[in-house]
Amino acid sequence: MTRSDRPPHRLGVAGLGTVGAALVKLVSARGDFAPSGESVVISGISARSRSAPRGADVSCYDWFEDPVALARSPDIDIFVELIGGSEGVARAAVEAALQAGKPVVTANKALIAHHGAALAALAEAKGVPLLFEAAVMGGTPAVKLVREALVADQIHSIAGILNGTCNYILTQMEQSGSSFSQVLKQAQALGYAEADPTTDVGGFDAAHKIVILAALAFGGPPDWGVAEVEGLEGVDLLDIRLAGDLGYRIKLVAAAAKSAEGVSVRVHPTLLPLDHPLARADGALNALFIQGENTGRMFIQGPGAGPGPTAAAVAADIADVLAGAKRPVFQRPAAQLARARALVPKALATKAYIRLIVRDEPGVIASVSETLAECGLSIDSFLQKHMPESVGDASGGVPIVLTTHPAVESVIFDAIARIGALPTMITPPRMMRIANI
Ligand SMILES: NC(=O)c1ccc[n+]([C@@H]2O[C@H](COP(=O)([O-])OP(=O)(O)OC[C@H]3O[C@@H](n4cnc5c(N)ncnc54)[C@H](OP(=O)(O)O)[C@@H]3O)[C@@H](O)[C@H]2O)c1
Repeated sequence: MTRSDRPPHRLGVAGLGTVGAALVKLVSARGDFAPSGESVVISGISARSRSAPRGADVSCYDWFEDPVALARSPDIDIFVELIGGSEGVARAAVEAALQAGKPVVTANKALIAHHGAALAALAEAKGVPLLFEAAVMGGTPAVKLVREALVADQIHSIAGILNGTCNYILTQMEQSGSSFSQVLKQAQALGYAEADPTTDVGGFDAAHKIVILAALAFGGPPDWGVAEVEGLEGVDLLDIRLAGDLGYRIKLVAAAAKSAEGVSVRVHPTLLPLDHPLARADGALNALFIQGENTGRMFIQGPGAGPGPTAAAVAADIADVLAGAKRPVFQRPAAQLARARALVPKALATKAYIRLIVRDEPGVIASVSETLAECGLSIDSFLQKHMPESVGDASGGVPIVLTTHPAVESVIFDAIARIGALPTMITPPRMMRIANI
C-alpha cells in the first residue's frame, strides 16, 4: 500500500472557535494538503456549546462533551487542541492525548510557555510529536524558522512585535490621534481586542510567545519565570507624538537575548528608530527580527492571528506529523534542557526616553540636569516642547523630553525617582527604553 492509499488520519479537534472552525473548513475542503500524499479527516470534535453556529456543518463529526475524552478516544489518531489557556481543560486534554500516545498539535502559547518542558518530556517519553507553530505569530512561520531553519546558527537575540492587538492600538493612536482607551474601545467593537484585554494589552500574550522563541533559540526549556513584562497601559498619545518628533516609533517589543552572562526575556513599550524594520510593521501585523552569528540580521513579517492564517499553521503541523516529525519538542531532548542563568533586569544597560511634564517656570531645566548629573546619568538629547494641541492635555504644564546614553536600569530608575520628587514636576516622569537592536 502506498502512502496515498492508506486510510486518512483521523483528527480530534477540541475547540471550534476562531481557529478551530477555520481548521474544520480547511480540512473538509482539502484534507489532502500534506505533501506526504496522505490525507486527514475530522473524526471527533469538542467545544462548550454543541449548538453554536460554526460557519460550517459539523453535525457529521462525533461530538464529545469532554475534550479529555476526545483526546483519549481510540477513534482519533491526532489530537488538535484549539481551546486555549495554560490550565484547565486544554492542559488536561493535551496531557491525556500524549499519555495515550497520540501526536498533539496546538496553537496554545500560554500552555507551551507555562508547561512546555513537562509536556515535551511526556511527548518524548511516549515517542510522539508535540507541535505548536500557530502559537507564535499565527500564520507567519516563526517557530519552524527558529527551530529548524536556524538550528545550526547561534542566535544572539530575537525581538518581535508579537501581539497584533497592541500593534493595532498603537498604530491607530498614532494615525487617528485618539487616546489609548478610545482606541481600545474601538478595537473591542471591531473584534480586534477581547472583552477582557488584559492578556493582550498587559503584554502577557507577547510574553508567552517570546518565552517560546527564547527556548527554541537558546536551547533551554520555556522559562516563564524569567520573563519581565510591561504592557501598553501607560503609553500616552503625548509620548507617541514626542517620540515621533525625536525620530522614533513606540511599539510593544518582545525581546530575548543571550550573552555569556545569561539570558534576558522582556516585553515592554520600546522606542524604535523610524528606519528599523520593526518600526514599520503597522496595524495588526506581527514582525520578528533575529540576529544570529552566521545568518546575521533577519526580518520576517506577516499575519500574527486570524482564522485563515492560524488554521493554515495548524495544518502545516499536521502535515509534519504525517511526514513522521521526529525532532525533540525544543532544541534538545527534554531531559537535557537546562535553564540558562537569568540576567537581572535592573543590571541591564539601555538608552532611555524620559518624559516630564513640568511647571513653566525658570530653573526647572537646571534642577533636572543637576539631578541627572548627581545620579551619573548622561544625557544624549534634551528637548523642551509646547504641549501638542492634538494631545488635549489640561495640566497646564510643559513637556520636557530627554534621551540618555546607555546606562544600567537601576541608575535610570534612581534618577527618575529623584526627578519625580522635584517640586516642579506636575505628573510622574514616564520612562521607556530605546531599542538597541
Ligand atoms: N484567534 C487567533 O487568531 C489565534 C492565533 C494564534 C493562536 N491562537 C490560539 O488558538 C487557540 C484558540 O483560539 P481561538 O481564538 O480560536 O479561541 P476561541 O475563538 O475563544 O475558541 C475557543 C474554543 O474553545 C472552546 N472551549 C472553551 N472552553 C471549553 C471547554 N471547557 N470544553 C470544550 N471546549 C471549550 C470554545 O467553545 P464554544 O465555542 O462552544 O464556546 C471555543 O470553541 C488559543 O490557544 C489561542 O491562543 C489563536
